[in-house]
Amino acid sequence: MTFSLDSSIGQIYSHPAGRDVIDKILLQVGAPRAAVTNVIVRNLRLGALKYVSLGKLDNAFLQALIEVLNTRPDSVSEVVGEAAPAWWKEAVFYQIYPRSFQDSDGDGIGDLAGITSRLDYLVGLGVNALWLSPIYDSPNDDNGYDIRDYRAIMAEFGTLDDFENLVQQAHARGLRIVMDLVVNHTSDEHEWFQRALQGDPRYRDYYFFRPVTTPGRPPNNWVSFFSGPAWRYFPQIDQWALHLFSPKQMDLNWENPQVRQEVADIAKFWIDRGVDGFRLDVINYISKRPELPDGNPLIGQVIGFSGIEHYFYGPHLHEYLAQLNRTAFAPTGTFSVGETPGIGHQVGKLLTDPQRHELDLIFSFDHLETPGHVRMDDYRYDLNYLKHYFGEAQGEFSGQYWMSLFFENHDNPRMISKVNADPRYRKALGKLLGGILMTLRGTPFIYQGQELGLVNHDFGAIEELRDVESLNLYAELLKTDTAEEAFGKVLVGSRDHARTPMPWDGSAHAGFSTGTAWIKAPLSDAPADITVESQMGDQDSVLEFYRRLIALRRDSPDDLIYGPVEFLDAGVLDYWAYRRGKSVLVQMNLGEQQLPVDPEWQSAQIASRGRELLSSGADTAGVLAPYEFRITRI
Ligand code: GLC
Repeated sequence: MTFSLDSSIGQIYSHPAGRDVIDKILLQVGAPRAAVTNVIVRNLRLGALKYVSLGKLDNAFLQALIEVLNTRPDSVSEVVGEAAPAWWKEAVFYQIYPRSFQDSDGDGIGDLAGITSRLDYLVGLGVNALWLSPIYDSPNDDNGYDIRDYRAIMAEFGTLDDFENLVQQAHARGLRIVMDLVVNHTSDEHEWFQRALQGDPRYRDYYFFRPVTTPGRPPNNWVSFFSGPAWRYFPQIDQWALHLFSPKQMDLNWENPQVRQEVADIAKFWIDRGVDGFRLDVINYISKRPELPDGNPLIGQVIGFSGIEHYFYGPHLHEYLAQLNRTAFAPTGTFSVGETPGIGHQVGKLLTDPQRHELDLIFSFDHLETPGHVRMDDYRYDLNYLKHYFGEAQGEFSGQYWMSLFFENHDNPRMISKVNADPRYRKALGKLLGGILMTLRGTPFIYQGQELGLVNHDFGAIEELRDVESLNLYAELLKTDTAEEAFGKVLVGSRDHARTPMPWDGSAHAGFSTGTAWIKAPLSDAPADITVESQMGDQDSVLEFYRRLIALRRDSPDDLIYGPVEFLDAGVLDYWAYRRGKSVLVQMNLGEQQLPVDPEWQSAQIASRGRELLSSGADTAGVLAPYEFRITRI
């Protein structure tokens, strides 16, 4: 089908990308799906939206949407059959931010030998696979997400021998290793880029260089995710080059088959060294619409990043991923999870459909903020949204489909702090979030320190922040705000909250290092019970709760891993309940008030002599404590 302004909303909604866009709009305005499926709206022509929206949606906006639909696959396969068993569906993953996990040589920077020394802790926790944020040679403009040499280890982190030792020690303990593959861009210090600057035509075509048309004016209106235009001018060759992230992260031109071959070769290099999988950084951005046209101003205004419609779901994305899978992953059985900001459920299903052989899993981010909010907003996250979000997502990713489950990573503030910063609820919330991760259907990813219930760090001044995104945003805000206002705004969503050193024990540098940490250590003002040492063996701690949850999931695969999920809608605010498989009932209080448990539940439980498996509360019959999480065998 070819889409045009004459297509009906119903037709648009039948296309995966069209449906994702409309679902996103519905989510943001809080409208149910029925708003689109009703007959009148379904038959409305796309062009008519211009009038309905009082001119807010112009033709250019609608054309941008049509262009995406007309060049991408137009159907998602039906949910058929059951999920085929796979190690990565059964595993619990643990993300390590190497710079902040464990330092072994006293320079205040975490390293590979440090990680190796903590493997027994991770085995004890019960996790099965480690995802390491980038450890390659890098000038660290974006902490390793700007790679200078894909085949070398960052000097501060150690050597290739240290890496091989880590892999060997991990494998000996049954832990798998997943590396971060950052191939949407390279560092400007990468040899390819340097050779391009020196005029080597082969490498010129590895990137997006564009000539100057109007002096001082970038080739298009795209903006960078780290503030300012997405173009950097190189006077030595009088050309612009594209960078969606920092001016030191140059976008690779995946249209060039040599670039795709290089990426496959890099993956093979690490697979040969025993790596079990990859997390593919911003992988949905690799295919840009070749003419690099201007972004639609309205989309730019709404989403905040103009140009995004030309690359978030580019014309060759599926093709490039399938090729990478075919050449590097499939022959070696290598696992892949793609970071895919902006991708919705339908396109997510296309990307992970086992028949299509592109990716195993994706990370999408629609659950990290509640509708109408972005990461930098100062607001309280209402957990009732999760009930709504997962109610849909788990239904979409059922049958042969499989989803990732996570609340934290190195790019987001701590989840507990978003929900309720009152320290009285820290523990209960930490357990609740862990409980959700381990009992929904999908593969859980824990981010380092989450298992301790870590919260945001109380940074005191901009000088204490390290992240390029925070620092650039601060500079940008200073154009209109006072220093105090700007710092306050940056602090809300700063990625540095997740990047403070892992608090191992109560010693001088939290056991992280013998020297001063590269970023302010978390212990100075935090309660003493947030270290591994203080929580280990304390049955009431978040850490021990995680350990029990992980064991429970592992020991009940038919229910908690492969079992279907059935949501039990009691229609009560703050109450969330679901059944997993045949015999597990999960109940939660999503709010800070005590919640009476639905009497019907109560009697059903008593009748079936429900056996409490795990609860974060005092186990009071008839009520759930604030943020209580409870699993019962029924
Ligand atoms: C991803 C990474 C983030 C990085 C960006 C650019 O979003 O998770 O940390 O800054 O890509 O590589």
